[in-house]
Amino acid sequence: MTQKPLKASARAHSNIALIKYWGKREIALNLPAVGSLSVALADLYTDTQVEFSESLDEDDVILDGHENAKSSRRISQFIDLVRAQARTDLRAKVRSRNNFPTGAGLASSASGFAALALAATKAAGVDLSPRELSILARQGSGSAARSLFGGFVEMHRGEKADGSDAYAEPVLDADEWPLSLVIAITETEPKKVDSTEGMQSSAASSAFYQSWVDSSPDDLAAMRAAIAQRDFQAVGELTEYSCLKMHGLMLSAKPGLLYWNPATVALIHRVRELRKEGLSVYFTIDAGPQVKALCLPQDKQAVSNALAEVTGVQSVRSSELGPAAHLIADDE
Ligand code: PMV
Repeated sequence: MTQKPLKASARAHSNIALIKYWGKREIALNLPAVGSLSVALADLYTDTQVEFSESLDEDDVILDGHENAKSSRRISQFIDLVRAQARTDLRAKVRSRNNFPTGAGLASSASGFAALALAATKAAGVDLSPRELSILARQGSGSAARSLFGGFVEMHRGEKADGSDAYAEPVLDADEWPLSLVIAITETEPKKVDSTEGMQSSAASSAFYQSWVDSSPDDLAAMRAAIAQRDFQAVGELTEYSCLKMHGLMLSAKPGLLYWNPATVALIHRVRELRKEGLSVYFTIDAGPQVKALCLPQDKQAVSNALAEVTGVQSVRSSELGPAAHLIADDE
């Protein structure tokens, strides 16, 4: 590191996969077994400040105003990767805040590790390209590799053992095809089985796992084509298909992994009814009980109102598609 102490702050937006990532081809480097394709969300984001300092004996990490030993360890291990590149032993002060519930299927690890990758490298004076940042963020969380970019983003599975071809890249900017997301929150507790554990159990015990991996390239190709043609119905149908296929895989693990609650199921039915009533809306669900509804901007208000009425829905948020991760002003 050239100057010290060095400080930087970054904002990264959460993302929601339309074609899902579930399964790892290698654990240590966190290499995905399948590619994925997501959209960035303008209104859900993480702000993270990192400051390296000679006065610290250990990393000092506060997330959403709290200390958490498990998260701190994961973050310190991630900063070790940045320290190795910067050739420094300096410890860091990390302050990070999500503007949405953490760990409940709203992709907080995606925006969290993307913001951390950008802020920590900048603070350490390590200059990485967007692709290199994506590769770094992937080692914190697979979906974080996508949160470096805005709009529609594809994550490549890659083939190489060193992970140098397992990175995300933008497919289409947010303003090239404005779409909206309505998020129905049915629970705010952190999930009980984290994605890494769920993925390992699915790979080890589901009879469907190999088919999931083998059929992924076709899903990605179909989604890429649908986006290129701005074919909303095709994008929506593929989104529901990939979501239900992933949850089918989770359900077929031993023991079966069920992230849904009764409100999640009610929301699935409601979204399908809304389509019959003429709205352009499709659902997707991640490793949690929230339902994310992809819709055309003109239907956003009607979809929000309808989903808010479903029994068990605690709150509804909506968002347009968002921008790439970027540096922001430091707090202090
Ligand atoms: O990035 P991770 O390890 O939290 O895994 C994300 C998995 C899903 O959210 C369920 C799917 C996805 O592609 O985002």
